[in-house]
Amino acid sequence: MNEIPIFNYSIFACEYQNHNRDKELFGKTVSDWAKSNINANNLHHGLTHQTPPGLQMNHGLDQLINSEEIKHFVSSLDGKIDMPPDRSFAISKMWATFVPPHGTISTHMHEGAFHGIYMLHSPINSGMIVFERDIPNAYYDVFSAGEVEKTPYNTNRQSYNMPEGGIFFLPSWMKHSSTSNESDDTRITINFILDVFEK
Ligand SMILES: [Fe+2]
Repeated sequence: MNEIPIFNYSIFACEYQNHNRDKELFGKTVSDWAKSNINANNLHHGLTHQTPPGLQMNHGLDQLINSEEIKHFVSSLDGKIDMPPDRSFAISKMWATFVPPHGTISTHMHEGAFHGIYMLHSPINSGMIVFERDIPNAYYDVFSAGEVEKTPYNTNRQSYNMPEGGIFFLPSWMKHSSTSNESDDTRITINFILDVFEK
């Protein structure tokens, strides 16, 4: 019997090595950005709000934007994604998301090529990220009747912790959400889109 994997998608995770050095500056930068922009929205949950995009223009986040981690992710795509030589990846959008106690993020996806999520302030029990495959729940009903352990074969969702200082990279089309923040503190993430541009 040959197993032939098809449609085999990956997410990528790493730690931002300068998290302890930069957390305070980044926190101040995103808080100032949120304060100076009154059009913060609550599309994802009544309690949750986001800054408007545009943080990639703020020099307070240069260390993250020019980080080895983002460069490393982009260079790891060499050989996986063939692009014309006149095109390259760049951050097209960056914003911060504030999820207070009992806040959640509803299922959504993004435009662009890849979505990055950097956990700037992520207290214990402040929620898990949930990735969802585009397979209808009904397909799994036959496999998951009763109390069975969740495996990739009987659920279209997989949850992961959101450790502070970590960065997730995922294809922008991948649906994701987050479970309720059960801590008594606000979780803050910096989110960005990597897209393809002509050089
Ligand atoms: Fe997202």
